[in-house]
Amino acid sequence: MMREWEPGKIVPSVLLVDDHEVNLVALEGILKPLGARIVKARSGEEALLSLLRETFAVILLDVQMPRLDGLQTAELIKQREQTRHIPIIFITALSREAAYVFKGYAHGAVDYLLKPIDPEILRAKVRVFCDLYVRGEEIRKQALESDVKDVFFTSVVHELQTPLAAAKAQAQLALHQLGEQRGEAGTAQALRVISQQIDRLAQLVGDLLDVNRLEAGQLELQMGEFDLGALLQEVASRMQPESGLHPIEVRAPHSILMTGDRARIEQVVANLLSNAIRYSPEGGPITVNAEKNGENVRIAVSDRGLGIGKEHQQLVFERFGRAHGPTLGGLGVGLTISKGIVQQHGGTIWVESTGRAGEGSTFHVRLPTRGKPEDQG
Ligand SMILES: Nc1ncnc2c1ncn2[C@@H]1O[C@H](COP(=O)(O)OP(=O)(O)OP(=O)(O)O)[C@@H](O)[C@H]1O
Ligand SMILES: [Mg+2]
Repeated sequence: MMREWEPGKIVPSVLLVDDHEVNLVALEGILKPLGARIVKARSGEEALLSLLRETFAVILLDVQMPRLDGLQTAELIKQREQTRHIPIIFITALSREAAYVFKGYAHGAVDYLLKPIDPEILRAKVRVFCDLYVRGEEIRKQALESDVKDVFFTSVVHELQTPLAAAKAQAQLALHQLGEQRGEAGTAQALRVISQQIDRLAQLVGDLLDVNRLEAGQLELQMGEFDLGALLQEVASRMQPESGLHPIEVRAPHSILMTGDRARIEQVVANLLSNAIRYSPEGGPITVNAEKNGENVRIAVSDRGLGIGKEHQQLVFERFGRAHGPTLGGLGVGLTISKGIVQQHGGTIWVESTGRAGEGSTFHVRLPTRGKPEDQG
């Protein structure tokens, strides 16, 4: 009996409202076998306070109380959006009163019990509401934790892509049209900023979709042969900041042929470089080393920035995992995506850092040169 609510580990709470302590104790005794949490209120006002603090599966409400009586209390409960749905069982000595109550609440979840109370009937009624509550909460919990939420989330994020693409196209068009006129430098600059911000948003949206695809195992690789050395040079020169604070140097053999998804590997390198820049606010050189090592290639991206303490070195590869405060920006998914891509290629990624600012970090990536072994058939 006591373990009745065990499965979902959701324990329903029942609110007892009566101005007589003896009645409260008696009700509590009757309901005890249900194993629900019991909260007692000695007046309508006290009941309303309890309702502000937590939610209940059902409320047992004595109709005859001084000041705020049961009916008035119920009125107030039904007026509040957050408490309107909570079922109420009125307890009254008068059947005339009970009939009146029912007229007023034709549609709400309202029931009544006549005094003297039959313990069996009371328990049965309360149990029904507790059951309903627990089942409802379980469904809510599952929906929150499961695919339903992911599907919803993914479709929302997916929908963001269309307006972003349209906005980007309009900004580009406007820039193009301005280009043909003179003396509009300020407007052109504003449009360029708008265009860059749209790119950032599109990047965020793309990242979120990638995380979801990776977790659902739906990230498909477009395998092909390419030169990793050339790719590294290309990404490095594209990402080289103009400030001069972060000179990027690539040290790699002239050509490293490998099989993999070029665009996705490029995404990994770009993520590591953007992190190296972002997390070395004081500047410092950034190096990209690459070498072929038997059947594998090794890439190492080093910076002289903030570093990552040992305690955070696992976390940073987790979804939304960050080692530094939000001030440096970042959603915390770049490394999650990179790890997913590397692993899908049959490789590994890890970080090496003392965690001392100025000593920086090195991110290592090991990839098989000939694609993932099982893909070779
Ligand atoms: N080179 C680095 N030096 C120091 N800390 C780093 C470095 N790269 C990553 N980190 C830490 O790891 C965390 C996770 O990095 P990740 O790239 O996954 O997310 P992010 O950079 O915060 O956001 P984004 O999703 O935009 O990439 C960062 O927030 C930062 O704390
Ligand atoms: Mg990042």
